[in-house]
Amino acid sequence: MKTTIVNVKDYEGKEVKIGAWLANKRSSGKIAFLQLRDGTGFMQAVVAKSDVDEKTFELAKNMHQESSMYITGTIVEDTRSPLGFEMHVKDIELIHEAIDYPITPKEHGTEFLMDHRHLWLRSKRQHAVMKIRNEIIRSTYEFFNEHGFVKIDPPILTGASAEDTTELFHTEYFDEEAYLSQSGQLYLEAAAMALGKVFSFGPTFRAEKSKTRRHLIEFWMMEPEMAFVEHEESLEVQEQYVSHIVQSVLKNCQTELKTLNRDLSKLERVQAPFPRLTYKEAIQLLKDKGFTDIDYGDDFGAPHETAIAEEYNMPVFIINWPAHIKAFYMKPHPENPDLVLCADLIAPEGYGEIIGGSERIDDFELMEERYKQYHLTGPAYAWYLELRKYGSVPHSGFGLGLERTVAWISGVEHVRETIPFPRLLNRLYP
Ligand code: 4AD
Ligand code: MG
Repeated sequence: MKTTIVNVKDYEGKEVKIGAWLANKRSSGKIAFLQLRDGTGFMQAVVAKSDVDEKTFELAKNMHQESSMYITGTIVEDTRSPLGFEMHVKDIELIHEAIDYPITPKEHGTEFLMDHRHLWLRSKRQHAVMKIRNEIIRSTYEFFNEHGFVKIDPPILTGASAEDTTELFHTEYFDEEAYLSQSGQLYLEAAAMALGKVFSFGPTFRAEKSKTRRHLIEFWMMEPEMAFVEHEESLEVQEQYVSHIVQSVLKNCQTELKTLNRDLSKLERVQAPFPRLTYKEAIQLLKDKGFTDIDYGDDFGAPHETAIAEEYNMPVFIINWPAHIKAFYMKPHPENPDLVLCADLIAPEGYGEIIGGSERIDDFELMEERYKQYHLTGPAYAWYLELRKYGSVPHSGFGLGLERTVAWISGVEHVRETIPFPRLLNRLYP
């Protein structure tokens, strides 16, 4: 019976055949222990000299790392292994012999591993991170579909910038100039006026010259946009959504979290509601903690975000930012027009900002004024202004950075391990 490692629990005491790669191996005179992987999981296979013919035993003893095979044997319980089962081998059919696999079980440097990303993905740790990424994507679709959102796919090639124009990737669009999307927000606002509650989930591009553990050049963003939803209501969606993905990973990725040695207690307590701190309070908190490099009106850097996060064992919203350090489309605070109705959600444990969101300006005249202030001219922005002309309504939305979220939930230090093929300041290979 052909099966996979993840399903061997259904075959205790039975003989099965599995297509697998050799992840690692050790052997002594009469026995060989093969560490197998098949994409669905990792399992030990025991080859006893007395159970197999001589050719098979020699093959098992001499096989090289990452060779591929069909392997047949009986599934038996093994309480010491994380899987709970191992295979007692009867036969091995070698498919392809791998010689000199570059990533050996010894330690390798980061640049070496990044140069071999196409192979590094096979390792147990990378496998675990990709499974957690997948669970976050799966539970994201689950959450937004269950809450009545419609998936909308904004264009990747655009004529307008949603965020900081200095970070745009320029490209040719026949005889026009175009950019790669930094955010689908502007298009999602149009879609929300057609469908009410919408979301997108796709790649975004930022030519940021940042070389930090939180920055990618190409990253995936989850962006909901909601008509008739005001700022505080949007915060409630955000905290429920983030709680949902954390709890889904806890429920469905136990093996992977164990592989990564993740402290589960730090994830278990992530439950809505999350604390809210005003920007002004955050500045005061930093000053009280001894920071001298930040003043009212400055944006936060990574050390500031980390220091704020340390005060809470939950994600924390920073609300009511000064308008001049935020985007042109954010709605002024009704009690203080120098502030905008927006929030950044800061993850615990130093992972930084995972969500940026706001209520959007819905007043035509005010948006026209912002266009002048921010020099947003030309046909690229005309349609966005028109949304304020025909049945404009209060609306809010936000963007969650997938890779920073995967890094936080997995407990991995750097975002380069959270996307299959990271695009970094100095890296387009592989
Ligand atoms: O705060 P940002 O720039 O917000 C927007 O783009 C809004 N238009 C979203 C919206 O309201 N629809 O980006 C949102 C999130 C950040 O909080 C961060 O998690 C992630 O995107 N992000 C990055 N992740 C990795 N590498 C980068 N260079 C990132 N830049 C932003
Ligand atoms: Mg932001």
